[in-house]
Amino acid sequence: MLRPSETTAFGYWGAMAERYDTHIRHVCPNYTELLTRLLDGLPDEAGRIVELGCGSGGLSLELAARYPRASITFIDAAVEMVDLTKARLAAAHPSSAEHFRFIVSRFEDVQFNEGSFDLVISNISLHHVQDQLSLFRRIWQGLALGGRIRIGDHFLFSNPTEQTIHWANWLTYCRENCSDAEMDELLDHVTAHDRYTTLAEQFTMLLAAGFATPDCVWRSGLAAVVTADRAPMF
Ligand SMILES: C[S@@+](CC[C@H](N)C(=O)[O-])C[C@H]1O[C@@H](n2cnc3c(N)ncnc32)[C@H](O)[C@@H]1O
Repeated sequence: MLRPSETTAFGYWGAMAERYDTHIRHVCPNYTELLTRLLDGLPDEAGRIVELGCGSGGLSLELAARYPRASITFIDAAVEMVDLTKARLAAAHPSSAEHFRFIVSRFEDVQFNEGSFDLVISNISLHHVQDQLSLFRRIWQGLALGGRIRIGDHFLFSNPTEQTIHWANWLTYCRENCSDAEMDELLDHVTAHDRYTTLAEQFTMLLAAGFATPDCVWRSGLAAVVTADRAPMF
């Protein structure tokens, strides 16, 4: 198997699809809570949804259950992950297949039709994108007026002391849960593929892309949930 730095971020995740659910809990201290908080503030109704980075379908299954009438587009560059999500959705929601669309694409390449979605949501995936501003601009275009972006991810702290403390806490958690091989693989992946931003940088990019009301609605250690809206034009 290739080392993480010898492949892409999605090549790395795709190759571990079958063990992903266990691994992600070894390296993401708040994984379950992050998903819960990401879902907490969702609108009651969302007719057209895009999930960026469906992975093994953890968030995808929740979205399908919560919005049984919505059209949901699941995007991920790892075909193994898309196949896994597709299979899990088919098993859990056999009568909803016509509501789901699956796209194997890099976020960097995906284009959205103008105003074609009400909600764009993503969990621990967008930190793999080098040019997030370009992605946010395309998402803004793709959202209908009043549409919302909701991002769960890990974010750096602006204050260096806080950053040092929380990064060390995170590494301690990972060392307690990972084997030596898993830890080695994780650190190689982080160095090669993770492009974390601070919340301040995230808000600046969202505003520059045209979004209104960027906010952080929950934070615990590195994990946080960010929201912003494509405001209606008056
Ligand atoms: C850490 S997993 C998160 C999966 C899922 N959202 C979850 O909460 O468990 C990151 C996902 O993003 C995908 N990914 C990483 N970089 C990508 C890129 N540039 N374009 C598209 N997908 C990418 C990976 O294949 C992987 O499925």
